[in-house]
Amino acid sequence: MTLLRSFIFLSGLGLAHSASVTVYYVPGQTPLTGSLTGAAAAAAYTGAAAYNPTVLNAPALPNPLPPLQFPIQLQNGDSQLSIQQPGSFFGFSIEMSVANQVLGKNSSAIQVPFLNLMGNLQQRSGGVHIRVGGNTQETAVLVDQISDGRILEKNQTGSSNPTQTPPLIFTRDLLYMMRNISSMVNVHWFLGIPFLENDPSRLGIAEAGQSILGDYLIGLQAGNEPDLYGQHQHRDPAYAPSDYVAELQTLVQQISSDANVPNQGLLIAPNVATGPWTPEMVWDTGMVDTFSSNLAFLAVEHYPADNCVAQFHTPGTPVDPQQLFPSYLDHNAGINIVKPYLNSTNFAQQKNKKLLMFETNTGSCGGFAGISDSFGAALWGLDYAMQMAYSNFSGLCSILVVKMSSITLSHVGALGSSVIILTCSIAPPTNQSTFHQWTVGPIYYSALAMAEAIGPSNTTQIKDLNTSSVLTPAYGIYENGTPVRVALFNYMTDPTGNSNYTASISIGGGTTGQPNGSPAQVKVKYLQAASVSQKGNITWAGQTFGDHFASDGRPQGTEDIRVVQCDQNANTCAINVPAPGFALVFLSDSAQTETAGAPTTTFATTFRTKTQNTATVDPAVLATSNGHSGGNGQLGSTSKGSVSGASGLRQVLPGVSMITAIVAGAWVVGQALIR
Ligand SMILES: *[C@@H]1O[C@H](CO)[C@@H](O)[C@H](O)[C@H]1NC(C)=O
Ligand SMILES: *[C@@H]1O[C@H](CO)[C@@H](O)[C@H](O)[C@H]1NC(C)=O
Ligand SMILES: *[C@@H]1O[C@H](CO)[C@@H](O)[C@H](O)[C@H]1NC(C)=O
Ligand SMILES: *[C@@H]1O[C@H](CO)[C@@H](O)[C@H](O)[C@H]1NC(C)=O
Ligand SMILES: *[C@@H]1O[C@H](CO)[C@@H](O)[C@H](O)[C@H]1NC(C)=O
Ligand SMILES: *[C@@H]1O[C@H](CO)[C@@H](O)[C@H](O)[C@H]1NC(C)=O
Ligand SMILES: *[C@@H]1O[C@H](CO)[C@@H](O)[C@H](O)[C@H]1NC(C)=O
Ligand SMILES: *[C@@H]1O[C@H](CO)[C@@H](O)[C@H](O)[C@H]1NC(C)=O
Repeated sequence: MTLLRSFIFLSGLGLAHSASVTVYYVPGQTPLTGSLTGAAAAAAYTGAAAYNPTVLNAPALPNPLPPLQFPIQLQNGDSQLSIQQPGSFFGFSIEMSVANQVLGKNSSAIQVPFLNLMGNLQQRSGGVHIRVGGNTQETAVLVDQISDGRILEKNQTGSSNPTQTPPLIFTRDLLYMMRNISSMVNVHWFLGIPFLENDPSRLGIAEAGQSILGDYLIGLQAGNEPDLYGQHQHRDPAYAPSDYVAELQTLVQQISSDANVPNQGLLIAPNVATGPWTPEMVWDTGMVDTFSSNLAFLAVEHYPADNCVAQFHTPGTPVDPQQLFPSYLDHNAGINIVKPYLNSTNFAQQKNKKLLMFETNTGSCGGFAGISDSFGAALWGLDYAMQMAYSNFSGLCSILVVKMSSITLSHVGALGSSVIILTCSIAPPTNQSTFHQWTVGPIYYSALAMAEAIGPSNTTQIKDLNTSSVLTPAYGIYENGTPVRVALFNYMTDPTGNSNYTASISIGGGTTGQPNGSPAQVKVKYLQAASVSQKGNITWAGQTFGDHFASDGRPQGTEDIRVVQCDQNANTCAINVPAPGFALVFLSDSAQTETAGAPTTTFATTFRTKTQNTATVDPAVLATSNGHSGGNGQLGSTSKGSVSGASGLRQVLPGVSMITAIVAGAWVVGQALIR
C-alpha cells in the first residue's frame, strides 16, 4: 500500500531449538522465549509477535448510548439487494512462500488442522476459494526438483539486491498438494503468473497449474500490485497503467501461443494496491474490453492501515494501536474501505465481470498487536466482508499468514506484528501438546460466521439495513428475494450488560401492510467474547478454537443455538445482541446453513508423519511471510551468529499418523489414531 511495505529491517534472527518458537530480535538483544500466560508488560515482550500479549483497552462507551431498542423491518422482495453471492465469498490468500507451512509439507503430508478448518467452512458454504500468491509469486520459478526434497524454497543465492524479493523455486508437488486438498475439501484455487520478467514470461505455473489442478484452478493473477512496481524499483518510477496494459498484452500473446495453457480465459487483473493508481485509471485504458475473453476476474487489493514504521523501522511515527483501535470498531470501518470501489463494482457489472478484493486484512506490514488478534478484528472482518458483499464485490481473499517474527521496539504500543488468521504448526514456546497446536485468529471466526450467513446456494443476496447507529449495524440476507437470515452487530463493550440491544425483527406486514410473515420462532447463533480487546477463546455458537496453540482445526465445546419465541401478534422477533457481540438470526429451520454445504464424507489419506518434530522450514521464508512483503536479502544476513547450531525452525506436525474420516463434518484426528 505504500513504498514502505517492501522494506524489511529484521536485523537479527534467533533460532530456538526444537519445540520452541523462533524469535526475531534486534541486534544486541537476547531472544527470549515468550511467555503466553505471563502478564509481561507489553514493551518488554520479545516472544513471537503472533503471540504478543498486548491487550488494548476497549473504546469507551458513547454518551449518549445509541438506541438500544429498535425495529428491523424486512420485506419479501426488498429492493437495493446485492448481486447474487457465492458461499465461497470469504476466501483466503496465502503468500506463496509459506504455502508449504499452511497447506502441508508435500502432497502426501497435508496439514490436518488446515483441512479441518477448511472443512468447517465447506460444511456451511459449500466451498472455499484460496489464493496462493502474493509478492513471492512474482519471482517464482517452477523447477523439476529441489535438492533437499522440499517443494518450495527461497533461492537466497539468487537475491543480490537486498530490496528485491529472493526468487522462489517450487516443484510440481506444490500443485499436487493443492490438488490433493481439493479432493478432500472443496477448495478452488487462484495462482499467479510471475510478472516481473515477461520476455519471455514464465508460464510454468499456468501450464502445470492447469494440467494438475484442472477445474480447481479458477484464476491466474497477472501482476501483483502493479501500481507499486515503480516505487519498488521493479519498473521505471513513471510506470503507468498503459505500461501495465502493454505488458498484459505481451503475456496474453504468449499464453495464446502456448498449447500447454489450454484455458486462456483465467487471468485476473489489474490487482492494484489502490496506492498510486485508482482502479479507474486502469479501467480507462480500455483494458477490460481489450482482454475481456482472457479475464476471469477483475481484482483490487487493499489494507486499511499499515504498521510499517513499527515493524520495519521505516521513517515516520509508529502508529499507536490503542489510538487506532476505535477506527476498526464501527460500521464506517468497512464502508470507508469499500467506498472507493463502488464505481468499480458497478463498472465490473457493466462489463459482466466479477470484482474481487484479492488481498486484505486489518493492516499491512504485519498488522497491529492488540488489534489484529482481538475479538474486535473478528467483528470488523465480518462487517467488512458483508459490506463488500452488499457492495457487489464477488469475493475476498483475506490474507492468511504464518507469522512468527517479532521486533522489540522502544516505542510503547508499537510492537511486533500480529496479522494472524491462523498461526500454524509453530512449536509452542512452552511445553504444550504437539497435537492441538494451531492458533486460530479472529478473522477465521469472521470467515466461519460469513460462511454460515451466506450459505451454500451461491445465489444469496445481502442488504445493509442502514440502522441508525454505526455501533449497531445490521444486514438482511436473502434467497430468491425472501429474507432468510439477519446479521446483527454490537461493537460496544460493556460488561454490565447495559449496552446490550434488542432488535425487533419483523417480516412482511408492519408498516407496508404486507401479509404477516413473522415466524413462530427463530434460531440465533452468537459470535462472542467478553470484550472487543479479548484475545483467543472467541466463541461461535458456544464453540471455540481456544487460545494460542489450542486447536486442531475442529471447534471445541457444545454447540449452543438459541431458540427465540416470536410475538406473532405484534409480528416481531426480539433479538438480544450483547455488547460486544454478533448475532446471526435464522428466520426458518431451512435457513440454517450449518451443514447445508457439504454432505458427511468418509475417506482416508496416506498422511503420515512421526509423532513430532519431523519437518523443518526455512526461517527466512517464515520471517517474510507477512502477506505482503516479499522479504529481502538482508534477512538472515546477520543471523549466523545467533543460529546456535539449529538447522532451522522446527515445525511440529500433528502428533497423529492418519487422517481417517469425516464424521458429522468433523475430521477425526485423535490420539486414539496414533499408531
Ligand atoms: C513428504 O513428507 C513426508 C513427511 O516429512 C515424508 O515422509 C515424505 O517422504 C515426503 N514425500 C515426498 C514425496 O517427498
Ligand atoms: C538460484 O539462483 C542462482 C543465481 O541466480 C542460480 O544460479 C541458481 O540456478 C538458482 N537455483 C535454482 C535451484 O534455481
Ligand atoms: C467510474 O468508472 C468509469 C470507468 O473507469 C469512469 O469512466 C467514470 O468516470 C467513473 N465514475 C466516477 C464517478 O468516478
Ligand atoms: C449492487 O448491484 C445491484 C444489481 O445491479 C444494484 O441494484 C445495487 O444498487 C448495487 N449495490 C451497490 C451498493 O452498488
Ligand atoms: C512436557 O511436560 C510433560 C509433563 O509435564 C513432561 O513429561 C515432558 O517431558 C515435557 N516435554 C518436554 C519436551 O519438555
Ligand atoms: C457453489 O459454488 C461452488 C464453488 O465454490 C461449487 O462447488 C458448488 O457446487 C456451487 N453450489 C451450487 C449449489 O451451485
Ligand atoms: C441510511 O439512512 C440515512 C438516514 O439515517 C439516510 O440518509 C441514508 O440515505 C440511508 N442510506 C441508504 C443506503 O439507505
Ligand atoms: C497426493 O498426490 C500424490 C502425487 O500426485 C499422489 O501420489 C498421492 O496419492 C496423493 N495423496 C492423496 C492423499 O491423495
